[in-house]
Amino acid sequence: MQLAIIGTGYVGLVTGTCFAETGNNVMCIDIDENKVNKLKQGKTPIYEPGLEVLLERNIKENRLQFTTDINTGISGAKVIFLALPTPPGKDGSADLQYVLDVAAALSKIITTYTVIVNKSTVPVGTAEKVHAVLSQHLDPSLFDVVSNPEFLREGVAVEDFLKPDRIVIGTESEKAKKVMDELYQPYIRQGNPIYFMDPRSSEMTKYAANSYLAMRISFMNEMANLCERAGANVDWVRIGMGSDSRIGKRFLFPGIGYGGSCFPKDVKALAFTAQEMDYDYAIINTVMQVNDRQKLILGQKVRNYFGSDLSTFKFALWGLAFKPETDDIRDAPALDLINELLAAGASVTVFDPEAMENVKQIFGNKIQYAESQYAALTDAHALIVVTEWSEFRNPDFDRIATALVHPCIFDGRNVYSLEKMNELGFYYESIGRKTIHKHVHDTLAMPQNEIIRERGTLD
Ligand code: UDX
Repeated sequence: MQLAIIGTGYVGLVTGTCFAETGNNVMCIDIDENKVNKLKQGKTPIYEPGLEVLLERNIKENRLQFTTDINTGISGAKVIFLALPTPPGKDGSADLQYVLDVAAALSKIITTYTVIVNKSTVPVGTAEKVHAVLSQHLDPSLFDVVSNPEFLREGVAVEDFLKPDRIVIGTESEKAKKVMDELYQPYIRQGNPIYFMDPRSSEMTKYAANSYLAMRISFMNEMANLCERAGANVDWVRIGMGSDSRIGKRFLFPGIGYGGSCFPKDVKALAFTAQEMDYDYAIINTVMQVNDRQKLILGQKVRNYFGSDLSTFKFALWGLAFKPETDDIRDAPALDLINELLAAGASVTVFDPEAMENVKQIFGNKIQYAESQYAALTDAHALIVVTEWSEFRNPDFDRIATALVHPCIFDGRNVYSLEKMNELGFYYESIGRKTIHKHVHDTLAMPQNEIIRERGTLD
């Protein structure tokens, strides 16, 4: 099938490339000339495992092309996907300007029946708005507007696209339904369901899914904070409750708050939609508050330990991206933590396998950038684990202890076992679990050998 994808951001690029991979002819359109030129050479502007291989292959096979020209780009397309940004406005509402502007442009150039698909996450009622804009210049018999939300996780987006848990299509047009059904056949043949529903329910489904997941995380973050106070271990609680099949084991990991390009934006937009409809969606408002608070928790732990003036201390941060396997730092808790540490006068050295360049653009020379995870540790007073990249999971602890001024770890993702930390003699704080080896506090001024002698105490 001939397809056009407008917008080659994260969603547009993965969508276009994966559709090409299943044999469609795909034209990706973007106004950013630089980006389009790079993409034509098979270079992706984002780090996403598996994407570049598919990109190169499909460009070579002539199934995937890129252009800045919308007029020629959409020519012959049976389906046009709108994968445009919907940034949060000041009040938290999703800004639809890009989507509606492109719809207006399309209304003047479409000449044969085309299905226009909203792939971006858009508030309830957007399909109707897009329909209204298109109708200004276009006969309604020449198009249908369909809602088709994406459920792609960064880091595993290609796999999520090719093997989706489900596909949600919002349309009441039989003609559009048939086209979408045909397009998604390769994905549903594996047994995954495709659900056809009305556009409003489809639009709401995306917000419901993301907000529910964000709520689950906030629930666990609060549970973790309570476990710390109650002397319980949140990891056991997580396993114990997650084994109930009604709850499930996934997405119950406490941490330092959810980040990324979706959860914060979508929860806010849902709260705004509720407000617009004069409904007090109390739980959603609380989810946002809890997350804002949780993002500060690691910085607070550091200040409780080292004092509120951190000007004589240096900290090594492992991980900056909002989660592993991505270079995305949008709404990443690491940014709040760095700001908190800098505000208290600390010196900060960071390492992330993929996200360093993006962080440089924000913090410039206010912080130091290490060449490797171990180089970040030199002369630091503590290691702070922010993102749970695999390479941080089983590090050389002797090297850590030797490089640090004090063997001290603050772990925002619970990647290390309490037993191991106790055995190795680290001062160790994590989320929702007991603090290990509190006595190191008294030894802040002690030389390394004294500290090593101190090892082995479990508070
Ligand atoms: C999310 C949705 O999962 C995806 O379906 C949607 O299309 C886009 O938004 P993504 O933003 O890639 O995907 O990240 P995800 O893996 O869902 O994680 C979001 C945030 O929650 C991260 O900051 C992560 O660290 C945090 N998280 C996740 C937790 O703190 N605990 C968990 O148990 C899971």
